Amino acid sequence: MIGRPTVDGGGDRAGAAAPLHAGRLADGREVRVYDSLAALSEAGAALVAGVLAEAAAARGRALLSLAGGTTPRTLYERLATAHQGDVPWERTVVAFGDERCVPPTSDSSNFRMAADTLLGRVPVQRELVHRVRGELLPEDAAADYDRTVRGLSSAGAMDDRPAHALRAPLFDVTILGMGADGHTASLFPGSAALGERDRWAVAVTAPESAPGPPERVTLTLPVLAASRLVLFLVTGEAKRTASHAALLEHMASTAERPPAGQVRGMGQTIWLLDRAAAGEELVRALV
Ligand code: 6PG
Repeated sequence: MIGRPTVDGGGDRAGAAAPLHAGRLADGREVRVYDSLAALSEAGAALVAGVLAEAAAARGRALLSLAGGTTPRTLYERLATAHQGDVPWERTVVAFGDERCVPPTSDSSNFRMAADTLLGRVPVQRELVHRVRGELLPEDAAADYDRTVRGLSSAGAMDDRPAHALRAPLFDVTILGMGADGHTASLFPGSAALGERDRWAVAVTAPESAPGPPERVTLTLPVLAASRLVLFLVTGEAKRTASHAALLEHMASTAERPPAGQVRGMGQTIWLLDRAAAGEELVRALV
């Protein structure tokens, strides 16, 4: 378990970061509601930096899995600027929850977004950044990334366990977003990939409604869950219905929830939302 975050309000850099509402759901997931994307991103960056520092101090290295899409950009920029000095970059290993099957130079590449906003601006070691090789054919990229992520486990590249056998955290922090349809990483509602128990990464085709290129590679649910802290970043009214379906207990059993609602970290699972994505019903459900 990671400790309770102590970084939410500390210091002038976090001045705008106090949540409007914070609490737990009956199942233990934590929800923090902020006034704006800027406040949510600052709080998230402080939290991520604190957990990475704690991990490196405890185990000699910190493992971070990044999300794609647009929402995390501001958090990545805060990590690259205000919190750059708080993260042990030289000992931080970076991977990705998913990727679009495009070259790393493409405007649609999650790697490119993370490189522009964060990785190109901090002293992370190039060989510790593990991207999905989106320039390959999807199945080849997935097989390659499956091997890559197995190599991050303490058993090293020889780790041939099925994904569901992961019993200890692989990542210290897994940052995730959620689409308005409830998808997370590239696990879409109704996708066969949601039931994948063996492979650590798979190729999927996103539905036409999803933004960006349809061919994707994604980590599977057990691997996304194998994290000390799973941190969701969700903003905008368009995501309110999906937030409720993912978070409110009475909406569905775990397997019926949208994919984002099925990810529970091995330590904490924290959702950072803005007011528009949360709505009153979610705030009322917090204890
Ligand atoms: C991607 C993702 C995806 C994303 C959500 C939310 O590559 O698109 O990793 O799961 O997090 O679609 O995206 P936005 O933050 O752009 O709304």
